[in-house]
Amino acid sequence: MSSIYLQCIEETCGQRQDAKRDEYACAACGGLIEVKYDFDPFDPEELRRTWHQRRLSGEPIDRSGVWRFRELLPFIDSSTRIVSLSEGSTPLVGTRHTGWWAGPVHLTIKHQGNNPTGSFKDLGMTACITRALARGVRMVACASTGNTSSSMAAYAGRAGIRALLFVPYRQISAAKLAQALDFGAIVVEVGSTFDEAFELLRQIAPELGLYLVNSVNPFRIEGQKTIVAEMLEQRAWRPPDYIVVPGGNLGNASAIGKGLRELKTLGFIEKVPRIVVVQAAGANPFYRMLTAGSRDLIAVESPSTEATAIRIGHPANWKKARRVLEWTDGFCESVSDEEIFEAKSVLAEDGVGCEPASASTVAGVRKLVRAGKIERHADVVAVLTGHQLKDTEYVMRHRSESQESRQRLRAEPSLDALRRQLETVLAVPAP
Ligand code: F0G
Repeated sequence: MSSIYLQCIEETCGQRQDAKRDEYACAACGGLIEVKYDFDPFDPEELRRTWHQRRLSGEPIDRSGVWRFRELLPFIDSSTRIVSLSEGSTPLVGTRHTGWWAGPVHLTIKHQGNNPTGSFKDLGMTACITRALARGVRMVACASTGNTSSSMAAYAGRAGIRALLFVPYRQISAAKLAQALDFGAIVVEVGSTFDEAFELLRQIAPELGLYLVNSVNPFRIEGQKTIVAEMLEQRAWRPPDYIVVPGGNLGNASAIGKGLRELKTLGFIEKVPRIVVVQAAGANPFYRMLTAGSRDLIAVESPSTEATAIRIGHPANWKKARRVLEWTDGFCESVSDEEIFEAKSVLAEDGVGCEPASASTVAGVRKLVRAGKIERHADVVAVLTGHQLKDTEYVMRHRSESQESRQRLRAEPSLDALRRQLETVLAVPAP
């Protein structure tokens, strides 16, 4: 049986803690905590076959794209009640037009919007809420830009645990807020940024006895890392050259890096893909730090971007993410809101919808190929983190209200009026 412990990631500290306690910060130095295992030796070939066979099983634990890889998550045992909604098992979609536009590169899309609540957060949440239930937690809490909260509300509901969430006032999309309300969460609108809401939650959590499910909770990272196993399986275990993710609180980049490192150590892969993090230009503290060559985060006090999911000025996981870029020889890019919109429109021409934050990946790839940092024809996987319907206000603003798009017309109910409206948009150019 593999054994588990929690450890502070700070090189100068590295203190181990008992895995029976949940910690969000090292008791000795306040650093980030990660879950570590002394894995039993695996035969990678045999385990790959087992994982593959589970896809034919009807058992809920095998239907989940997280728990199908449970040998990578040995913090549960056969008696643990798994809180799952059949998350994961998301498609890896080839692109036609988008890869040419962005590169040309061989671009595939790992679409995490096809999760039960419409975002990649469900992978981490099934792990974290399973852990919370096993620990007898009665109330979970998070601060969120909208997706973590929808996901927490759904999984907490399923587990019979109460859910409390802090969101910045009027800063998250209506669809995400509606999801959390629909799942019965208590919503507190507080502060004007995610960072402010999160800081207040962290301060008040101990006195209220709240169990935090933000990505500082290392069990969130555990669930999210399984995306790598699923993606590699879908690619017959051939790692791509690059995996590109949007960067907000930097939990996802940390999780993907951890997953890759474990799979390499366990002998599943030789080559490690380079991780690329893309931030929005108005909320790019990680990018600023790396380009300035600073060892400390250059926080953004008033983050601003239309990609509200990643409107974060002080990402909690920046040290984990920096380590991942060091391990994988990765890098970070920053893209404007205009570039994000352009990339989102190109994806849409390929029939791929996503929320704005997700499209930053494709915008980043285009920029990096142009700068010569990603080679033309490279094998690139972009992780699209959220569903198209997560932010319909954004689409309506750009596609419906904008005059130049001329996509949304209104006509009086007569054939003449219809002809007049349509002749302007359906005019066929002369041969
Ligand atoms: N994409 C989407 C759609 C997100 O919702 C988030 C983060 C990210 C990317 C960035 O991921 O934080 O791991 O770097 N959303 C969090 C939330 C902050 O509260 O829903 P990250």
